[in-house]
Amino acid sequence: MPETPYVPGVQGVGTVDGRTVWFPTGAGMAPGDGSMAARAVARREDLVFLPDVDPVVMAALGLSAVAAHMALTWRGELVAGETVVVLGCGAVGQAAIQLARLVGAGRVVAAARSVQARDRAVRAGADVVVALEDVAEAAQGADLLLDPLFGPPAAAAAGALRPGGRWVNLGGSAGETCPITSSTLRSRSLRLSGYTNNELTVQQRADAIAVVARHAAEGALTVDHEVVPLDGVTDAWHRNSRGRVVLIT
Ligand SMILES: NC(=O)c1ccc[n+]([C@@H]2O[C@H](COP(=O)([O-])OP(=O)(O)OC[C@H]3O[C@@H](n4cnc5c(N)ncnc54)[C@H](OP(=O)(O)O)[C@@H]3O)[C@@H](O)[C@H]2O)c1
Repeated sequence: MPETPYVPGVQGVGTVDGRTVWFPTGAGMAPGDGSMAARAVARREDLVFLPDVDPVVMAALGLSAVAAHMALTWRGELVAGETVVVLGCGAVGQAAIQLARLVGAGRVVAAARSVQARDRAVRAGADVVVALEDVAEAAQGADLLLDPLFGPPAAAAAGALRPGGRWVNLGGSAGETCPITSSTLRSRSLRLSGYTNNELTVQQRADAIAVVARHAAEGALTVDHEVVPLDGVTDAWHRNSRGRVVLIT
């Protein structure tokens, strides 16, 4: 736990010399305050100057979309025409469905727990949207599994991948452990990789933000979000909203 008083917020969108910038903070990782304030401190070398893009949409996308983009392309090595399975449909899932499509995936299969999440997956443009219980059937022969959930849903989806299929895990929303068998992994020579934004270089992160901003500016990428004035942060925090909350000053 950081010492209090403490300002959380790992990223933000603001202005520097009249230009719109995306910036990360060290909040939660290093001593110092984050972005949930009228003014935030960022390192100049971390700033990413943005094109003409809605700053609210960009704030909602931010590092969730960076993770989706890098997990699909850099770690997941997605190539055009492949079938991608996306588990869960929060911010990462919504971004992953749209970004997979933008990279040229042939087919995007989404599997999510709630009706609301499945509605988001449909709106994000998935070709097939199923409940998590049905992911094994829907994922048959897929090339790449984009997995922010882990746990039983990831095991079921991984078991349906084609021989040599890739499985990129970037979160554990459905469980810290996953009941995958050795025979499932080895008999199909599956490749399981972990992904974290924390391993990106400043340049990789800036390049990924630039890709996200370009797609957002073109209206091709967004995630559900709610806009809340900064002085409503306490209520928004305790409400534990399902979608992204963008605080504005
Ligand atoms: N590795 C990285 O660099 C990186 C970066 C960003 C995020 N993440 C991780 O990725 C995960 C998703 O992040 P997010 O921003 O998309 O979160 P989010 O917006 O809160 O969405 C979470 C999604 O997971 C689903 N979910 C939660 N608990 C579940 C469970 N027990 N079983 C099945 N589905 C469940 C939710 O389903 P419902 O909508 O149906 O409730 C929702 O669709 C988190 O674990 C986060 O820590 C990792």
